[in-house]
Amino acid sequence: MPFEKNILCIGAGYVGGPTMAMIAAKCPQYKVVVVDINPEKIRAWNNGPLPIYEPGLDEVVNKARNKNLFFSTEIEKGIKEADIIFVSVNTPTKTFGQGAGQAADLQYWEKTARQILAQSDRCKIIVEKSTLPVRTAEAMERILNNNPKGLHFEVLSNPEFLAEGSAIRDLEKPDRVLIGSHETPEGLQARRELVEIYANWVAKEHIIESNIWSAELSKLTANAFLAQRISSINSISALCEKTEADINEVAYAIGTDSRIGPHFLKASVGFGGSCFKKDILNLVYICQSYGLTEVAAYWESVVKINEWQEKRFVQNMLANMFNTVAGKKIALFGFAFKAHTGDTRESAAIYVTRWLADENARIVITDPQALDNAKLDLADIKEKIEFETDPYRAAQGAHAIALLTEWPLYRSLDYARILKTMAQPAFIFDGRNILDHPKLFKMGFNVFAIGKAALKHF
Ligand code: NAD
Ligand code: UGA
Repeated sequence: MPFEKNILCIGAGYVGGPTMAMIAAKCPQYKVVVVDINPEKIRAWNNGPLPIYEPGLDEVVNKARNKNLFFSTEIEKGIKEADIIFVSVNTPTKTFGQGAGQAADLQYWEKTARQILAQSDRCKIIVEKSTLPVRTAEAMERILNNNPKGLHFEVLSNPEFLAEGSAIRDLEKPDRVLIGSHETPEGLQARRELVEIYANWVAKEHIIESNIWSAELSKLTANAFLAQRISSINSISALCEKTEADINEVAYAIGTDSRIGPHFLKASVGFGGSCFKKDILNLVYICQSYGLTEVAAYWESVVKINEWQEKRFVQNMLANMFNTVAGKKIALFGFAFKAHTGDTRESAAIYVTRWLADENARIVITDPQALDNAKLDLADIKEKIEFETDPYRAAQGAHAIALLTEWPLYRSLDYARILKTMAQPAFIFDGRNILDHPKLFKMGFNVFAIGKAALKHF
């Protein structure tokens, strides 16, 4: 039986791989091909182990791979055959020229548009899946629709809201799917086609339709609001440490107000991940370019508080360990930017490690999934770092443990056993507030959590 539709996704990363695997698993009537310029990645998607760690992803991929889900490096062929093309390439922060350090680097994006045009001999729907500056679709359309072949490409915005570590759950039961289009007859027709794909498993009331610019801007805004909540609670955590208020109690008390809500109020060593900082800086740049200086400054402060929180964590370690960590062994529990992922992009752990290395500490890093990425992130200071899969061995002889990722396994370790093997006095800095602090203190640890009074034996 021929497939009803040919769907292509350009970019087989954290978003392209899982989202397309979900579409293929839920819609056996469509053929879904995912292409990438990176042959290693495609090999891994085809033969395993999968190139990213994501709970539940193996099962979804196995259900559809080589039936109606295919991973390939044949980008041109994929474009030719496709009716609908999702573009899910990376959109990192620009590192050069105008807007360096803030604006989105759209070079991969533009290359993709030109490639789509070169390989197309019929009209297609193009879906922006990557996170992009508002009004990117305009540029994309100019490139695509300015062609001598007389082809028309309708561009839709369908930003992705999945979070790493819970991607499969988020894709299977999304809070919402957002689809933006032009409100022309062609735009609305293309919008309907995309709605139809998601409607195979997402209830209609969870599919939001909007104009294309609202969809583009909603993605940046959602990430900015989420990150803003973390910076807000982290800013209050600093005040808690000065006043003996407890940040968990404050977060609970405010989160029970239904207007505020309980989510994203966990104080931490700082938010990481490939997107929050990048997307907020992008928003800041866009605001500046429209002359909205105050709006830009407001959102930039969210990133500044995060950087301050990361630095404050290390300064706190230093101050409490008698103002020196030089030559002292410090075990870092966790390196991923959050639990249940091996991703370390913009992880607070990277900054903490670098500052501790500058202080000549002897650093041992342990993490159940992220050690390979950690080695790449720290390649330039590798002589200062040891990597250890076993947390007990990582802590042996250490003066301090800094817990940086909230992996559940760190909650269930035998800390009495760990304490016996550590240098004394022993310190724990809990950057995620997941440990039983009074219990650790009673055992003999000096305990420093985020937004809580320190528990010290001296
Ligand atoms: P990623 O780096 O994991 O994957 C992007 C992939 O695109 C890479 O494998 C790269 O090789 C490939 N690529 C780049 N240029 C290409 C080209 N011309 N042709 C074919 N392949 C090409 O990135 P990601 O985390 O999947 O993010 C992709 C986009 O989705 C970004 O805009 C990001 O902001 C957004 N986003 C990410 C997440 C997340 O959780 N990671 C969530 C929501 C949205
Ligand atoms: C985030 C958003 O949650 C997704 O909706 C969005 O699609 C994605 O960015 C994206 O655009 O890339 P992600 O970065 O994968 O997802 O993970 P989050 O769960 O949002 O966590 C981000 C960071 O904030 C992590 O470092 C996490 O530990 C930290 N965090 C989160 C806190 O410090 N406190 C909290 O209460 C929540």
